[in-house]
Amino acid sequence: MSRQSATAFAPASIGNVAVGFDVLGHSFQTIGDKVTARRVATPGVTIKRITGTTVDLPLETEKNTAGMAVLSMVRDLQLDFGIELEIEKGIPLGSGLGGSAASAVAGVVAANALLAKPLTLLEQLQFALKGEQVASGSRHVDNIAPSLFGGLVLTVGIDNPNVKQIPVPPTVRCVLVHPHMVLSTREARSILSRTVDLSNVIWQTANIAGFLTGCFTSDLQLIRESLEDVIIEPQRQVLIPGFPAVKQGALGNGALGCSISGAGPTVFAWCEQQNAEAVRDAMVAGFAAQKMQSDAWISTLDAVGARIVD
Ligand code: HSE
Repeated sequence: MSRQSATAFAPASIGNVAVGFDVLGHSFQTIGDKVTARRVATPGVTIKRITGTTVDLPLETEKNTAGMAVLSMVRDLQLDFGIELEIEKGIPLGSGLGGSAASAVAGVVAANALLAKPLTLLEQLQFALKGEQVASGSRHVDNIAPSLFGGLVLTVGIDNPNVKQIPVPPTVRCVLVHPHMVLSTREARSILSRTVDLSNVIWQTANIAGFLTGCFTSDLQLIRESLEDVIIEPQRQVLIPGFPAVKQGALGNGALGCSISGAGPTVFAWCEQQNAEAVRDAMVAGFAAQKMQSDAWISTLDAVGARIVD
């Protein structure tokens, strides 16, 4: 007998991880969104309620990331029942922490638990992607894939994606600092130049190859030398007051690298466990110098993705 209702948690995620614009991301377990899906007799998908850190989101199914993701599932699978959703936001709006992706992923994972024949993770990814598109206007996978699969995730391809979980050296921690401001992903994408200098493409290609090799071989020095975004960060940093000081604070306290989380304004740093608190404090101080308050978290990089919690 299939379930009548299910609640899923999907973690926040750090898109791009500096070197892999739109293709590389990692989950961040400390915060996330929850979605409850309930079977109802009325066909289609309705959103009953949105609670938590952000309530000012559309209740209209086709304008809501979780709503659209689950609606595309209901339509594609031609389900003979409807689904009612309740969304509990844990991720701040417009923070660059993959909030729209997490809601879409949690919606799909919860709805999947109601099916007599559950879908594979890759099938769920395609439906979640349709939800993400509603929020950002683009089909990027670097938040959806890590939120669904967990850990550091590289996705190659969109229509028939290869999703690969990359090992991370166990002593590495991620520090996240979220300044209290909102940045829309659409806006942060719209300012990006359509053309890129060839020398920067070569540099960034070496960086992503070096970074992934460093992760596979636990070579922290190689990670330190390659965790640098020479294409997107220089264009977007102007949107984040205090970014140079925040980054300088992280690197000056031993961080392996520091860049913008997804489209920003949250900034992340990778560092070794023993430096995590000093890195966090320096980053928070960088924003404070701009009279910006912030929230900060430190997390391990566990390869645990979205899951049913109730
Ligand atoms: N890769 C996307 C971007 C992530 O940077 O625009 C958005 O969170």
